[in-house]
Amino acid sequence: MNIRIFNSREDLNATAAAVIAGLLLTKPQAMLGLATGSTPIGIYQHLADMYRKGQVSFARAFAVNLDEYVGLSQDHPQSYRRFMNEHLFQHIDIPIAHTRVPDGNALDLAAECAAHEQAILDHGHVDLQLLGIGHNGHIGFNEPGRSLTGSTHVVDLEERTRTANARFFGHIDAVPKQAITMGVGTILKAKQIVLVAFGADKADIIKQALTGPVTTECPASLLQCHPNVLILLDQEAGGWF
Ligand code: GLP
Repeated sequence: MNIRIFNSREDLNATAAAVIAGLLLTKPQAMLGLATGSTPIGIYQHLADMYRKGQVSFARAFAVNLDEYVGLSQDHPQSYRRFMNEHLFQHIDIPIAHTRVPDGNALDLAAECAAHEQAILDHGHVDLQLLGIGHNGHIGFNEPGRSLTGSTHVVDLEERTRTANARFFGHIDAVPKQAITMGVGTILKAKQIVLVAFGADKADIIKQALTGPVTTECPASLLQCHPNVLILLDQEAGGWF
């Protein structure tokens, strides 16, 4: 694993954006695996800036998202589809038909999970998967447990995850209890993975994920098995390193 620690979040965001833009220069039709949460917002702002300055184009790129809450319509203020539209897609030239966020409101959730997985297979593979990390070590919404699921599936969210995300919903009761997520197998099939973490509250789980045992009890620890992982941390999250 290539671990880089930054004094400024601005530099970290610029570096992550440059890695994505660099990929698109060499492979304009790349499939990007994208993440939500507060962590990638600055990276998306950088990419939008780079697009405005003519430094990158997404016109031939594809984007597939990690996860989505079950039961939220696509235009719900907290849906990840809406997050992606507002934070990235509407600011760049990616054709919306080239973007895929799981439909958490699908009547047949199992079929939607299969369709998400198939969309990646149809393209071949994810070229670069961007990841944040949950305080319990989850990636996407793959929660810790005695076992993990390989492919895209419906998951019950941990109370801790719902509590952490309640800040976006106003109240925990409004946070969905389930989500669709790419599986850890789906994530590990990406050619390159870029994991980003900010803040002191992520330091312990980052240390555990990067230096602890590879275990389903810390889903991010499975990244230790991937041959091409770039970890971008600020001082607070990575100062222990
Ligand atoms: C959610 C998302 C994850 C994200 C995590 C951390 O649970 N499903 O993909 O990594 O939150 O969020 P944040 O970046 O806001 O700390």
